[in-house]
Amino acid sequence: MRKMTTPWTFLLLTLLLSHALSEPESSIAPMEKTEQQALYSVIQDLVGKWWNGSDLYPDPCGWTQIQGVSCDLFDGLWYVTTLSIGPILENSLECAEDPKFNPLLFELKHLKTLSFFNCLSSHKHITLPSSNWEKLAGSLENLEFRSNRALVGEVPTNLGQLSNLKSLVLVENSLFGKLPMELGKLTHLKRLILSGNKFSGAIPAPLFNKWTELLILDLSMNSLNGSLPTSLGSLSSLLKLDLSNNQFNGGLPPDIGNLRQLSLLDLRNNSLSGASPKSLMGMESLEDLLLSYNPWGGDLVEFEFENLRNLTTLDLSHMGLTGTIPEAIASLKRLRYLALDYNHLSGSVPSKFAALPSLTALYLNGNNLTGSLEFPERFYRRMGKRFASWNNPNLCYNAVVMDTGNVPHGIAQCKQGQEPSTGISNSNTRVDSGNPEENSGLVATSWLPASSVSGIWWGILVQEAVIMSLLVMFL
Ligand SMILES: *[C@@H]1O[C@H](CO)[C@@H](O)[C@H](O)[C@H]1NC(C)=O
Ligand SMILES: *[C@@H]1O[C@H](CO)[C@@H](O)[C@H](O)[C@H]1NC(C)=O
Ligand SMILES: *[C@@H]1O[C@H](CO)[C@@H](O)[C@H](O)[C@H]1NC(C)=O
Ligand SMILES: *[C@@H]1O[C@H](CO)[C@@H](O)[C@H](O)[C@H]1NC(C)=O
Ligand SMILES: *[C@@H]1O[C@H](CO)[C@@H](O)[C@H](O)[C@H]1NC(C)=O
Repeated sequence: MRKMTTPWTFLLLTLLLSHALSEPESSIAPMEKTEQQALYSVIQDLVGKWWNGSDLYPDPCGWTQIQGVSCDLFDGLWYVTTLSIGPILENSLECAEDPKFNPLLFELKHLKTLSFFNCLSSHKHITLPSSNWEKLAGSLENLEFRSNRALVGEVPTNLGQLSNLKSLVLVENSLFGKLPMELGKLTHLKRLILSGNKFSGAIPAPLFNKWTELLILDLSMNSLNGSLPTSLGSLSSLLKLDLSNNQFNGGLPPDIGNLRQLSLLDLRNNSLSGASPKSLMGMESLEDLLLSYNPWGGDLVEFEFENLRNLTTLDLSHMGLTGTIPEAIASLKRLRYLALDYNHLSGSVPSKFAALPSLTALYLNGNNLTGSLEFPERFYRRMGKRFASWNNPNLCYNAVVMDTGNVPHGIAQCKQGQEPSTGISNSNTRVDSGNPEENSGLVATSWLPASSVSGIWWGILVQEAVIMSLLVMFL
């Protein structure tokens, strides 16, 4: 096997040597003329007329390899297996002002990976080819369009013919319309990521029925609505489910608890309400449960956290939750991030939180919690700005332990035998607005660069990397 990844210097040396020692013809990687011509035409139509393949790269699978193109040997002839366009490396192929999809693309009969990154982004809009995808059905496994802002239109139903597809990634383009039901025919999908487009409407009910091999489903940051389909429960292999930042409404499908392998469930910022969280409680593998910014309602006690022993991130802020904070949360030993802010929680704060060994963020602000915070001073020191309890008018902190600077912001010391005064909440407002980073509000996307992400997100990103490498093994 001869792949494009070989370092240039080594390659040149080898080729110069082999050139010197053998007949020139034998050092040319043999290709069908039609395959070679198709490759040249496809690339030229994308990168511009100036690009003359036969001049620049007379032996595209041999000694004049093209950055972003890989080849493989089938029955003694070389064929293109990978075509990636977009500025990844310095000498990558980049799209022209008015790129076009040449229909000869579909004649590259051993094409396994086709990817476009930050490429179709000129002012001129372009749509995905609507037909001929079935010609790649035998070979294509990975199809990716990422950050192509000029890529508009609907997902062609013809993509459903790509029966060998394992990964479909259409991220941060400008695609719109409904998700086509035909995608449901892609039964070997392991990864489907459609985040950051303008997809709308409800998920077609049968879409999820046959995706039994799917590991990652990410439909976040679109305008999808309607209720979550009951067929969600049939995605039994799923490790990561991200439907955040859409307009889904209604409750949870009862079978969602079948997703026993799930480690990340992100439903933030939708319109989910009236859901019984009971169905989530069988998801024993869950590490990140993110449900914030939904008009969910109900009592926090309905969450039976006892089973979710591997939880590290629990984000339940802005959910209209009532009731008291169950002690069971404080027994989730791996918890690193806990956000319960901006609900209607009452009662006292369990002092057991101080004993959670990994806890680095605790947001309790914007509730109606009462009584005295019984945390030792070293707890406040450890948490720093990642502890928030302001906007709880009847909450105070234990006066005895505090005389250094490590006091919780925005609440008053408890006075012996006295309720805290109600003037406190005024000073809280200042603290709140002056320190935006102290709000729990997790960043909307898990694809952000690590530098712009708070510590807890770093954890999720690392976990994501693990999932990704797992995925690479599967693909
Ligand atoms: C590439 O250049 C050759 C001459 O070097 C010319 O014959 C051929 O027509 C050119 N092809 C394209 C597609 O411009
Ligand atoms: C979903 O959004 C579409 C517009 O994209 C709208 O016509 C439809 O009424 C919405 N359905 C629900 C259930 O909100
Ligand atoms: C929720 O999603 C909408 C778009 O649907 C976005 O404008 C808004 O900023 C998001 N809110 C949060 C808190 O992420
Ligand atoms: C919890 O995590 C541990 C270690 O990461 C793992 O071995 C175990 O299988 C997980 N439990 C569940 C129920 O997934
Ligand atoms: C907060 O709780 C107190 C009782 O502790 C109650 O009197 C008050 O009405 C509650 N406030 C809100 C906004 O729920």
